[in-house]
Parts: sequence; structure tokens; C-alpha cells
Amino acid sequence: MMMLSATSLSAGYGKKTVIRGIDVAVAQGEIVGVLGHNGAGKTTLARAICGIITPRSGRVMLQDTDITGRKPSSNVAQGLVIVPQGHGIFTTLTVQKNLELGGLVVKDRSVLPERIEGVFKLFPILRERQHQIGGTMSGGEQQMLAIGMALMTQPRVLVLDEPSLGLAPVLVERVMESVRTINATYGTSILMIEQNLRHCLATASRAIVINRGEKVFDGPTTELADKTKLLTLF
Ligand SMILES: Nc1ncnc2c1ncn2[C@@H]1O[C@H](COP(=O)(O)OP(=O)(O)O)[C@@H](O)[C@H]1O
Ligand SMILES: [Mg+2]
Repeated sequence: MMMLSATSLSAGYGKKTVIRGIDVAVAQGEIVGVLGHNGAGKTTLARAICGIITPRSGRVMLQDTDITGRKPSSNVAQGLVIVPQGHGIFTTLTVQKNLELGGLVVKDRSVLPERIEGVFKLFPILRERQHQIGGTMSGGEQQMLAIGMALMTQPRVLVLDEPSLGLAPVLVERVMESVRTINATYGTSILMIEQNLRHCLATASRAIVINRGEKVFDGPTTELADKTKLLTLF
């Protein structure tokens, strides 16, 4: 069963069309990677899927519901959550407050403490930083908080836009490990934009490659392990 599928998706800004006719699907419990150079259109794809920008054409389905052009807040309530490139935490608020805000759409407020506890289990450092202001933490801790906020709604589909960007190698490993843990523990379907091929291979079972706004590869990541193959795509 496909949890998320985008079909013939085109999107851009103003007069400029950035992505053209992209198909991407994430099956239940699958991690799909999105690879491509800077400026290829990866973030634009993620934004069009999650409703941050409205697609020019094409369709986005969340399981069997057509969510094309729906607002991000509506998608969050339906179980599609994005962790945007560059975190998107509230930098002037505490870790605790950020997590509470991550769970803002959760109707049954009584479940929030146990969800926060779940995030602290996944990222113990956030428990220690519970009362610290988000913006004063390291980049890696802020990324963990951003992922933690996304988990507060127990999403069916998580879209991660370059979670390892700008992090020290040891923290990249931690974040990638947490992505695998989330997938294994909650069965969350994940679409992960990740420029680093090695991390993408280690975490995603399938990947698409985007070049200049078009999809140039879609298949098992094992096929990308051969670098020469990847080079022919760019
Ligand atoms: N808000 C925006 N307004 C206008 N152009 C944008 C905007 N965001 C991105 N772009 C342009 O869209 C193209 C693709 O950007 P992006 O989707 O961010 O690529 P990637 O995430 O693969 O690095 C780039 O040429 C970029 O300059
Ligand atoms: Mg980007």
C-alpha cells in the first residue's frame, strides 16, 4: 500500500517552474531517499508535497485521500509532517514548549506527556535540555528537536529535508540512526532528502535522483552504490 504518492508533480515560484512531472511514492513503512545537487529542486518537491507551495499540476495522495494543494496544517492533522531544511524550530522558546507546539493539532491533550517522553527516549539529550531555549542549542540538538516536534503528532508520513545539513559527522550518524529507529519503532513511512550518498544508502531502501527539476532515477539504493552509475545521472 502506498502511504504517499505524488504523480506528475510540477511546481515553482512566480513565473519560474522548478520541478517538472515528478512521480514519487512511499510505501507503508518504507524509507525513500531523494538525491540531487544543490538547486535541483528537492526542497521545492518537498514543499509541493506538504502544501507549503501549491503545485502547478499533478496530484498528491496521502493513502487514498487526494491532498493536492491542501494547507500544511491540514496535512499535519492528517498525518503528513515535514521537518523543513534548516530545522524550523521556535528559537526563542524552550525545548519543552517547542515539543508542546509540535503537538498543537493533537486533540487529546492528555497524550502529550507520554509523546514528549517518547521523544526524550529517542533523544536523551533533549531531556537534559528540556528547559533550555531552542536557539541556544547546537545545530545537531536543534535538528533532533525539529524531528521530535514532528513526532508529537505520530505522523504516518514524515518528510525530512536534509536532516544532516551542516552537522558534524558524529551527529549526522546520530540523526540517521534516529531516522532508522523512528521507522523501525513506529513504522513511519519516510521521504528523506539527503545529499550525502553514503547516508542515503545506509538509511533508505529506495531513492529517486532529481536533476534540474526532473527525475532521472527511481530504484533501489543498492543500484546507486556503484558510483559510476550515479555519475551517468548528472
Ligand atoms: N522561494 C523561492 N523563490 C524563488 N525561487 C526559489 C525559491 N526557493 C527556491 N527557489 C529556486 O528554485 C530552485 C530549486 O531550489 P530548491 O528546491 O531549494 O533546490 P534544492 O533543495 O534541491 O537545493 C533554485 O533555482 C532556487 O533558486
Ligand atoms: Mg533544499
